[in-house]
Amino acid sequence: MIEFQSVSKVFGSGPTAVRSVDDLSFRIPKGAFWALMGPSGSGKSTVLHLIAGLTPPSSGSVQVEGVDIARMSSSESAALRRRRVGYVLQTFNLLPFLTAEENVGMPLVLDGVRQREVDTRVQRALEMVNMSHRAAHHPMHLSGGEQQRIAIARALVIEPAIILADEPTGNLDRAGGRAVMDLIQEVNERTQVTVLLVTHDPVFAAYGQRVLRLVDGRLQQDMTLPDKPPALDLGVAG
Ligand SMILES: Nc1ncnc2c1ncn2[C@@H]1O[C@H](COP(=O)(O)OP(=O)(O)OP(=O)(O)O)[C@@H](O)[C@H]1O
Ligand SMILES: [Mg+2]
Repeated sequence: MIEFQSVSKVFGSGPTAVRSVDDLSFRIPKGAFWALMGPSGSGKSTVLHLIAGLTPPSSGSVQVEGVDIARMSSSESAALRRRRVGYVLQTFNLLPFLTAEENVGMPLVLDGVRQREVDTRVQRALEMVNMSHRAAHHPMHLSGGEQQRIAIARALVIEPAIILADEPTGNLDRAGGRAVMDLIQEVNERTQVTVLLVTHDPVFAAYGQRVLRLVDGRLQQDMTLPDKPPALDLGVAG
């Protein structure tokens, strides 16, 4: 569960201050899949950073799994990111000198998990994203869509409670984007992980049950979508 209560985030001060998030309130139930849309600079990434405890709110409260982010010590918020929150970015951010499986295992290795358990969990995560056959490959030998599936496996390997995906399809073509969205949806249904997806693409936003639209850090629109819109042929695929 993620809850924002009158959250504002201001960067800088005086005449150059930017109100990146402005009095935002919402509550995402556990297991939900929501999308966040809005023009560039509207505060979407800032919302994700607030949820991950990467930056504190200027006012209001951000609660993640019942804990107020502002009350967490820096080691507690680091532990939240290491164990509970899987982050997926537009630019996959895989380490080029590591193989796919080493990239996927990295969060566990950093968390001191023993090697045998790392191996088991990495295998399972690679299976979930259908990439077991590419385990020993380096990122530069994988397509963009495959790299993103590895990045998703790396997010899943910690068995997160929440997946924050910041334009995960931004560097992919339509087919690659669809494959990544289908995967995120499948993981959401199978594991009840809560998903918050930032996207500029209304077709991908329609994978969510609810779509929030931000403008200048404020909630401009809040739409609840009917069940399973991706099953409809929206006539824009391909
Ligand atoms: N660390 C920071 N310091 C100063 N200003 C910031 C910082 N982070 C974000 N901002 C400002 O806050 C506003 C919202 O930024 P944010 O990155 O959340 O937008 P966004 O909706 O994700 O945009 P995009 O679609 O381009 O990724 C922008 O005006 C940005 O310049
Ligand atoms: Mg952004």
